Amino acid sequence: MQDSSLKTPYFMIDEVKLVENLEKAKQLKEISGVKLVLALKCFSTWGVFDIIKPYLDGTTSSGPYEVKLGYETFGGETHAYSVGYSEADIIEVADICDKLIFNSQSQLQAYRHLVEGKASIGLRLNPGVSCAGQDLADPARKFSRLGVHADKIEPQLMEQLEGVMFHMNCENKCVDSFIRLLDDISAKFGSYLDKMSWVSLGGGVFFTWPGYELERLGETLKAFSEKHSVQLYLEPGEAIITKTTDLVVTVVDIVENEKKTAIVDSATEAHRLDTLIYDEPATIQESSEYGEHEYVIGSCSCLAGDQFCVANFEEPLKIGQRLHVMDSAGYTMVKLNWFNGLKMPSIYCRRENGQVEKLNEFDYSDFKRSLSQWSVS
Ligand SMILES: Cc1ncc(COP(=O)(O)O)c(C=O)c1O
Repeated sequence: MQDSSLKTPYFMIDEVKLVENLEKAKQLKEISGVKLVLALKCFSTWGVFDIIKPYLDGTTSSGPYEVKLGYETFGGETHAYSVGYSEADIIEVADICDKLIFNSQSQLQAYRHLVEGKASIGLRLNPGVSCAGQDLADPARKFSRLGVHADKIEPQLMEQLEGVMFHMNCENKCVDSFIRLLDDISAKFGSYLDKMSWVSLGGGVFFTWPGYELERLGETLKAFSEKHSVQLYLEPGEAIITKTTDLVVTVVDIVENEKKTAIVDSATEAHRLDTLIYDEPATIQESSEYGEHEYVIGSCSCLAGDQFCVANFEEPLKIGQRLHVMDSAGYTMVKLNWFNGLKMPSIYCRRENGQVEKLNEFDYSDFKRSLSQWSVS
């Protein structure tokens, strides 16, 4: 399959780039003894799990469907953690997960009896400190509902746990700041950790970022796990799939209102939601920092402020031209929606041998079914 024959919009996952990240994950495991479970909330395109499986230990999930997907399509260890489970969720999930992590002591007390004997039970603790750029994604933000804070811990409940989970990083590229967080955790929670058999340090550690001090991270994790005699876990999402996937779009129109806007056959609101939520402009592969021709890369949705980025190009853009919106895997494919009835991007994988394999495509019937299956009589 030639790329030019593929209808846009589509995602292209690059196996070579994915394996580069996975090799770093493997190196981290070898240095530290940490186990790595893929955070499905970030990326759950199970069509490429066969590539990822040999490198990681399993998955971590939120809602019951994610847990089931991880169990069915990835295997290994299945961790389940949700900010709020219903009783029905717990019953569904307890049979298929290896570790079930509660977000609060009230959920632990209410549902522990449904999990005992089936899965190892853990609790999320909130260290009250974090490394996260934006308040929206900061687990230690004021009034945070995520996990139990040190001053609220009921010691007798901790006796009944096998493990705890912390998640306090978001795209943390700095080992030193991670070390400071771990020191803080040891100081605040050390006496509890010493009694656990496992501790998960969550996701958000960007160990595949170019220049990341992987060895220091590995040694730090090893020292932490030895100090508290626990099996450590990390729950990487973004670190595994960063820079692996382009969203390929076509310019369908060019309009001008003081600035030129190239309108493409995709929308951030439907196909790359975090661009909008976190106000983080996308990067276009074809752009060039010092190019003379500046364009807003605008979406074809009706939302006035829906744009991918402002970018410069060496040559004027043309209608019909394709653009590659880079790094479009994490928290993207899992958040796709049908806003405006836009065509849903297909999903492809470019294998190591250069061959392109189709993982998914969508049509009108998928859109229609997502809205109603039955009409009122
Ligand atoms: C509990 C938990 N674990 C893991 C992750 C994955 O984080 P990341 O994709 O930044 O590695 C998240 C992300 O929100 C999370 O909330």
